[in-house]
Amino acid sequence: MTPKSASSSKQAIKQLVLVLDFGAQYSQLIARRVRECKVYCEILPYDTPVEEIVRRQPIGIIFSGGPSSVYEDGAPTCDPRIYDLRIPILGICYGMQLMAYQLGGGVVSGARREYGKTELDVLDNGDLFQGLNPKLICWMSHGDAVQSPPPGFSVIARTSNSPVAAMSNPEKKLYGVQFHPEVVHTPWGIEVIRNFLYSECGCQGLWTAESFVKLSCDAIKKQVGDKSVVCGLSGGIDSATVAALVHRAIGDQLTCIFVNHGLLRKDEAEQVRRTFQDFFNVRLIYVDAEERFLTRLKGVLDPEEKRKIIGEEFVRIFEEEAKKLPHVDYLAQGTLYPDVIESGTKQAAKIKTHHNVGGLPDDMNLKLVEPLRYLFKDEVRRVAEELGLPSEMVWRQPFPGPGLAIRIIGEVTKDRLETLREADDIIVEEIKRAGLYRTLWQAFGVLAPVRSVGVMGDQRTYSYPIILRAVTSEDAMTADWARLPWEVLERISNRVINEVKGVNRLVYDVSSKPPATIEWE
Ligand code: XMP
Repeated sequence: MTPKSASSSKQAIKQLVLVLDFGAQYSQLIARRVRECKVYCEILPYDTPVEEIVRRQPIGIIFSGGPSSVYEDGAPTCDPRIYDLRIPILGICYGMQLMAYQLGGGVVSGARREYGKTELDVLDNGDLFQGLNPKLICWMSHGDAVQSPPPGFSVIARTSNSPVAAMSNPEKKLYGVQFHPEVVHTPWGIEVIRNFLYSECGCQGLWTAESFVKLSCDAIKKQVGDKSVVCGLSGGIDSATVAALVHRAIGDQLTCIFVNHGLLRKDEAEQVRRTFQDFFNVRLIYVDAEERFLTRLKGVLDPEEKRKIIGEEFVRIFEEEAKKLPHVDYLAQGTLYPDVIESGTKQAAKIKTHHNVGGLPDDMNLKLVEPLRYLFKDEVRRVAEELGLPSEMVWRQPFPGPGLAIRIIGEVTKDRLETLREADDIIVEEIKRAGLYRTLWQAFGVLAPVRSVGVMGDQRTYSYPIILRAVTSEDAMTADWARLPWEVLERISNRVINEVKGVNRLVYDVSSKPPATIEWE
């Protein structure tokens, strides 16, 4: 690490932008867009005290949207002293209405609703709209609207329904947009965010995978000193990235434990072993626990029961192995920023217990090393590439912790695992061959416990179907079934039925989430 890059990695964190969350469903998306502009940012609740904001020394602040009206009782609001800090602020939707309201502009309630794609007339293409066309498409979703800007502000864009679709006060570096620049339906929205960050806040684009790796290695070394760290590998990208990063920082002070529960995709376990043991030279304890898991899963049909057993058994084996190590002080885990933001605040009803292999064994008294806790998934992939993980691993589609067990409806047996693994491998191969792998969130097979009649050669068959599931999604919270080309469906169907023993039918799942979920269990 050169002295120059060491200092620029520190600056990357110094150049902090804060997103104040006013209850928007899009706050995380705003933060992701800022990071895509190579600027580090964090999300804080809207009522974070001004003193705390000052302490963090942000060079820019973004107010998110939110579902409230500024006139509602208990509407989220921020300390108006924030406008006097001389830190550039961009208010988005509710964030702009609040800014207008607090600074003496006119906000009307409910009168001029706008939802969906709307044409925007740019009146001033300095500031936020530098380099953009005078007419733009933007995504609107608001009930209240700013009717007149506060004193000192000018109107810089309007739509047919919003006389103040964007406003600015360049002297105080305060800006507001009524539309949502963070969503993909505002095609050039990221340019508005980039203009705010680079022209108004003075950001320099220091937040890169390279600076993150350097910064994290320093932090990990500082945190653990000469103590030892254990890390559970699952085959997934998060735990693999943590392991590679911690190994880069502290070498042999790290031991990885890979519990192969036998529920992984074809060749996945071997790839993990090869990558870490042979390529990175990591101390690796490889536990082949397939029989143990299958024994525990014998006769179990209920999805939640399967998840519980797999989660418990994983932790038990992990603990057994970790306790054999001479002395361990830290556990490295792949917690990501969305988990950090959501933990404790999420009120959503439990649909399924998500089990993440590599979870914390409660009673081991280990301190945590969580170097990815400020990263989004796409950033993890960039860091993984920077660390030299194989691209097949980096770009592998998400896979549930309990693995193929929750894609085998009914009992999990060795034979059924073999059937699904072969079918899944063909699906992935054909999806890749068609150039669709990276455009889909997930594409996989599900084995259903129903039999149907077929005919192969001159023989009657009475076998199982494979259900093909392929979805597009941004974040797995919602998903749409993928409109796969007929030829791709045809090839997958032909190959699965011909090549996988015990399968005589392929059906395509055309359900979206909600109301279905991505996985079948
Ligand atoms: P669902 O089926 O709830 O899945 O729409 C949403 C996303 O989460 C993955 N998934 C899991 N991931 N442990 C995990 O680590 C789990 O138990 C689990 N269940 C579902 C699923 O593959 C999809 O990407």
